Amino acid sequence: MGNLCQTLAGKKDGAPPVWLMRQAGRYLPEYRELRQTQASFLEACYTPKVATEITLQPMRRFDLDAAIIFSDILVIPHAMGQDVSFVRGEGPQLGPLQVPRLKYDPQALASVYEAVELARLAIGAEKDLIGFCGAPWTLACYMVEGRGSKAHDGVRHFALSRPQEMEALMELLVDALSTHLVAQAKAGASVLQIFESWGGACPYGGLEPFVFGPTKQIVDRVRLACPGVPIIGFPRGMGEHLVDYVKKTGVNAVGLDYTMNPEAVNQRLGKGVPVQGAVDPQALVVGGEILRQEVQRYKKAFKGRPHIMNLGHGVVPNTPPKHVEAFISYVREAS
Ligand code: CP3
Repeated sequence: MGNLCQTLAGKKDGAPPVWLMRQAGRYLPEYRELRQTQASFLEACYTPKVATEITLQPMRRFDLDAAIIFSDILVIPHAMGQDVSFVRGEGPQLGPLQVPRLKYDPQALASVYEAVELARLAIGAEKDLIGFCGAPWTLACYMVEGRGSKAHDGVRHFALSRPQEMEALMELLVDALSTHLVAQAKAGASVLQIFESWGGACPYGGLEPFVFGPTKQIVDRVRLACPGVPIIGFPRGMGEHLVDYVKKTGVNAVGLDYTMNPEAVNQRLGKGVPVQGAVDPQALVVGGEILRQEVQRYKKAFKGRPHIMNLGHGVVPNTPPKHVEAFISYVREAS
């Protein structure tokens, strides 16, 4: 069992295990070089050798406790038949959504599971391998709006004006995502993470039907199929609803974003529930004493609880790779 799994099982001694959301990606020159040889971002995701290589790149450079499989949350809408493309400099773009026409093809993502198998063999037994998916609400944000947005007016309007279609979309996503997570676990992922990146854009009335309910269904189904594989929820922007999110979804652990007060979370969250995070990715860009203080702040806040060190959102492209090395050494130095 890797350090990450041990912490997720409640173990607390020594320095926290550490990995970074988006630890593979554009801040690494070797990623940019390999990415240039690929016709598209999705092609890189769907070519097992390439996806495995990108997964391993940060593991070769840094002594991280876990690798996260190189893929994207938007492979699921793609496998359900919606057009998905990544336009350089503009982020993802999705084709028109027709809920009755969506049909998940489990075979479509066989190459992702092959990459999980290859990465599992390559990283060694003492490292964990993280599989992941986007949560139904976050995927609905992209599927309805067709691209990234800030206010998510489109999906909120859709949910209120076409409630039956929204419900049908949630059901289809719960099925596809449960299957996708179980397949990653069976291929060798020892930990699973559910990214609810747009949790903070969900209206209060939508939390139960679109965030808590569907996430709980996924957690229940995955747990039934793979009882030993812990699930981390990352409900970005959940704010005051964080404790409810943990209670109502049944996730094993919760990732905080950098806006949360770690001391307050530590007081309010159930005893022994493991937490992950939540250094500001900008502190990783700045580095030095600022970064060290941030790391120490989270270590101190969570000294009485199982804690996985991570950022409060993904690594940004202008991060100097040397700062990641320093980050890991700050995590492991005496407090
Ligand atoms: O290292 C890892 O964390 C694993 C790989 C990973 C990627 N995307 C690779 C990627 C993971 C876990 C994701 C999750 C993801 N994808 C999320 C949830 C996490 C979050 O950031 O909130 C979301 C919302 C997406 C959707 C997505 N994919 C967007 C909005 C973008 C464009 C923005 C950007 O950073 O370019 C992507 C593309 C993407 N996914 C890249 C990478 C490395 C960059 C693509 C490129 O090389 O051009």
